[in-house]
Amino acid sequence: MLNKYIELLKKGELVAFPTETVYGLGADAWNLSAVKKVFEQKGRPADNPLIVHVSSKEMVEEFTDEISDDAQKLMNHFWPGPLTLIFPKKAGVLDMITAALDTVAIRWPKHPLSQELIALAGPLVAPSANSSGKPSPTKAEHVKEDFGNDFPVIEAGETDIGLESTVLDISAEPYQIYRPGAVSAGEIEKIIGKKVRMTQTSKSTAAKSPGTKYTHYSPKAEVCWLHPTTSFNEKDTFFLLHQNRSGRESAIWHPVSASNIIHYRGDYNRMAHELYDRFRQADHQGFKRICIEPFKSTNTATHPLISALENRISKASS
Ligand code: TXA
Ligand code: MG
Repeated sequence: MLNKYIELLKKGELVAFPTETVYGLGADAWNLSAVKKVFEQKGRPADNPLIVHVSSKEMVEEFTDEISDDAQKLMNHFWPGPLTLIFPKKAGVLDMITAALDTVAIRWPKHPLSQELIALAGPLVAPSANSSGKPSPTKAEHVKEDFGNDFPVIEAGETDIGLESTVLDISAEPYQIYRPGAVSAGEIEKIIGKKVRMTQTSKSTAAKSPGTKYTHYSPKAEVCWLHPTTSFNEKDTFFLLHQNRSGRESAIWHPVSASNIIHYRGDYNRMAHELYDRFRQADHQGFKRICIEPFKSTNTATHPLISALENRISKASS
């Protein structure tokens, strides 16, 4: 089933494939013209580096020769899975992949099809398979929406997690999370016995992880946080509410009778799983705004995906 896709990749063509987070836009990580095509296809700025996807330790060693004890612990515990690690890069790794930084991002995805593909085609660079600035694809249809019906996509239904991997820089201490994902800071700290920093968007972070400075994940509709005082036009607005509420509190928070409200009732896995699809749906249905209930700071510790959800929604709304 994968043969024709492996052939395309070996010829230097692009193939979109499923991972457990979102669909990736794959290209041979050792083929410069293929890597170039990734940037062209997405309309991605050249200073935003790509993640190399691997399926063995030998493949990791093609891209870095500095695997620290902490790195080894994290790899043993979280790979294959939704954690991208940033290593010092080895000489010879294409500058175009790393945007000429001296580090390289590597991830071993968990989806069986991605593992099989990489095992047979070799290491692949793979950004999310969307046009730059659009929400990441969680279904093959989303990839086709952005790249056209004839674009080669390995179809495998909806991706499981729905938000991109956690990006953790372990190339220097203190370790820093540039992008929160399904693997939380707390889980990482437990494995290595060290504190990690959550870096907010800033000039110094932008220099080390250029992706953080770009707007991401944005539908056409305006994304905003919903407060009890937010004014909205009911007909034009799509609502996403996440908490379980009852009584008087519920009346304040469910001010509209409209059918265009999704209640997650504390199911953050489901909210993450379908967030980008809801963004795209709201556009198809012509909504002008998507209003989302804010997270309380006390919430963020209670579920690993809350930081990731808050990060993506904040970026979409900025
Ligand atoms: O879940 C995921 O990670 C998905 C699937 C397809 O694996 N991929 C993905 O790739 O989200 P992309 O290109 O959309 O996001 C990669 C992020 C960007 O924010 C980029 O700036 C950062 O990783 N990154 C890549 N290489 C880096 C490096 N050497 N140093 C710092 N940040 C890096
Ligand atoms: Mg992306």
